[in-house]
Amino acid sequence: MNIRALGHALPQKIVTNRDLAQILDTSDEWIQTHTGIRSRRILSGEETISGLGAQAVQMALTRAGLTIADVDYILCSTVRGEMFFPSTACLIAQKLGATCPCLDINAGCTGFLYALDLADAMIAAGKVDRVLVVCAEQISKVTDWTDRSTCVLFGDAAGVALCERGENLKTVRLSAESDPEPLHAWPSGGNCPFDDHIAKEHLLYMNGQEIFKFAVTRSLRDIGMVLDDCGLTVDAVDSFVLHQANRRILDAVRTRLKQSAEKFPINITTHGNTSSACIPVLLSEMVEDGRLRRGQTLVLSAFGAGLTTGAAVLQY
Ligand code: ACO
Repeated sequence: MNIRALGHALPQKIVTNRDLAQILDTSDEWIQTHTGIRSRRILSGEETISGLGAQAVQMALTRAGLTIADVDYILCSTVRGEMFFPSTACLIAQKLGATCPCLDINAGCTGFLYALDLADAMIAAGKVDRVLVVCAEQISKVTDWTDRSTCVLFGDAAGVALCERGENLKTVRLSAESDPEPLHAWPSGGNCPFDDHIAKEHLLYMNGQEIFKFAVTRSLRDIGMVLDDCGLTVDAVDSFVLHQANRRILDAVRTRLKQSAEKFPINITTHGNTSSACIPVLLSEMVEDGRLRRGQTLVLSAFGAGLTTGAAVLQY
């Protein structure tokens, strides 16, 4: 499978660390030194996740010189979605005037890797020729804005990869060590009069230190596996495009692989952790500013709620 084009879209509203320090017992200095984040974008007003997703798709289609009629399937990775139903993929399709099949998936922050693998399988099976993988995330609706240890980490965004037949996706490795305890969020409880179970409306909970250790060990393991699959060394890789959860996680993986900072691009500084949108947004930004060029070898790696992980080698 090849990625023919990438796209991304960000909300208008910029929330800085100083804005957060107005409503929480925190500081710009703490957030920057512990996470590397300076600001994040948050959906507000009339903006919607599906609107952001549709905007990102338009960018990818324009870059590819195609129209929505050329797309056979829309696969949307989202941890929350805009509504319970219809799917966010259907809401995005409506905005684009698409009539192809639409499906949401949820693999936490690893959603982009899971969706790429599915798109690859669908294309390889001959069911479809082109799949839009859309990662559209509004984590700001799940975060507990009274919990300073988590709400400062996240932002909203949408990233898109337009996938089609080809040989550029060399390998994908996925895993799930399923355990909700370290990282989870409950939906709202409803009001069924026949259910005396107390509704759990906890919003997002995360054991930060446990996830930190998990992220570093599993990223290193997964990167090692996909490089072995392709017979590559770390030095043969042009860029390692990793899930943007914390600058210190990225630095820990990078120093263990003995690689330069230039080979580990980041957008966490201005976007925060945008869940499954992190990687496609970053790739699209790298196309925009010329850092990503055809023929380059990329390693992608992500981890998230599940706990899930994934990595891939892609020759762009
Ligand atoms: N401002 C000021 N102080 C804070 C803040 C804040 N925003 N947050 C926590 N603190 C305090 C704590 O209360 C604690 O204070 P105490 O010592 O008095 O108890 C102190 O800072 C240290 O807290 P730690 O939790 O030890 O801080 P740590 O350095 O581990 O950083 C963090 C916390 C940023 C959450 C880190 O553990 C982390 O990034 N973990 C990984 C997160 C992650 O990768 N998430 C990705 C998955 S998300 C997904 O898949 C949806």
